[in-house]
Amino acid sequence: SAAEKGGYDYFMLKEIAEQPQAVADTLLGRLTETGEIVLDEVRLTDQDLRDVDKVFIVACGTAYHSGLVAKYAIEHWTRIPCEVETASEFRYRDPVLDRSTLVIAISQSGETMDTLMALRHAKEQKARVLAICNTNGSTIPRESDAVLYTHGGPEVAVASTKAFLTQLVACYLIGLHLAQVRGIKYADEVGAVVQQLQEMPDKLRTVLESMEPVRKLARDLASAQQVLFIGRHVGYPVALEGALKLKELAYMHAEGFAAGELKHGPIALIDQGTPVVCIVPSPAGRGVLHDKIVSNIQEIRARGARTIVIAEEGDDAVVPYADELIRVPRTPTLLAPLVTTVPLQVLSCEIASSRGHDVDQPRNLAKSVTVE
Ligand code: G6P
Repeated sequence: SAAEKGGYDYFMLKEIAEQPQAVADTLLGRLTETGEIVLDEVRLTDQDLRDVDKVFIVACGTAYHSGLVAKYAIEHWTRIPCEVETASEFRYRDPVLDRSTLVIAISQSGETMDTLMALRHAKEQKARVLAICNTNGSTIPRESDAVLYTHGGPEVAVASTKAFLTQLVACYLIGLHLAQVRGIKYADEVGAVVQQLQEMPDKLRTVLESMEPVRKLARDLASAQQVLFIGRHVGYPVALEGALKLKELAYMHAEGFAAGELKHGPIALIDQGTPVVCIVPSPAGRGVLHDKIVSNIQEIRARGARTIVIAEEGDDAVVPYADELIRVPRTPTLLAPLVTTVPLQVLSCEIASSRGHDVDQPRNLAKSVTVE
């Protein structure tokens, strides 16, 4: 009913709007005033965590994309090698696991069979399993050695939105916690992350208040043949997530690419007017990344692409090459997926409703897939 949807037309819109609160809830009680990360639901000892020499992240769909982002943060902060794998592939290729491997299983529902079977395989091989989950008492956390609940509240729409953002926050917390227990000297950058996470709910409110031009653009893109998404570094998984949302909801051909890989094939897809959504990292910090993607945007524009550029406030370098420009608040690169994903959610939701689809119940999909 309309009441259940809190006055929104779709649960998805309600859940998009809930993201500032959901992120705040994931952070609640987990950061001390001195910047220590407290993960009291994690029942692994600090020694267990110090012994970890390899991390595997297993998940499906949108949760898998949160894991792809986590890899960049975990490796950067902890220097522990981290691999991310779609859960349905994991156990069938005989992965190398032992008791010093930490397997992180990410699942909103906690009931996804592919993820559950991957975690059972990991436990058989004596790996430690840590679940990131939104559903208290569900099967995946019950079978794991430790759990970090995202506390995002119920997610009803099939396409995942607030679960994704809260999974990202949980991954950042775990990365920071691993770095702390392993005694890795906090670089200034890492110490500041805690502060930046605290500021995230306000930044997300700012993003949500500025979405009207995105909705307008979406109505314009509703008749496109395909939409491509490009990104680098953590912007690459954001591109994959943007494309997945559009496939799920709008039934449109959509693909996400690592921007640097375009020239090795996908650039052939670009025709006159092909919309390409470009996720641009902050020019601060890793400036090289930023400059590389600006030249990728120039390349595709020269081949006729209609460039839809998502860039932070004050980034002037992108202006000459952006047919459409979507601004997000300044955010350090590793945390940027929290803000850059939101316009992509709004875009796909609005394209889908313009095309007359039921946004909350896309064809052929289920919220929770309990078969392998
Ligand atoms: C289904 C849903 C996706 C979701 C995936 C993983 O395929 O349609 O939206 O990302 O399952 O779900 P989970 O509950 O494990 O996060």
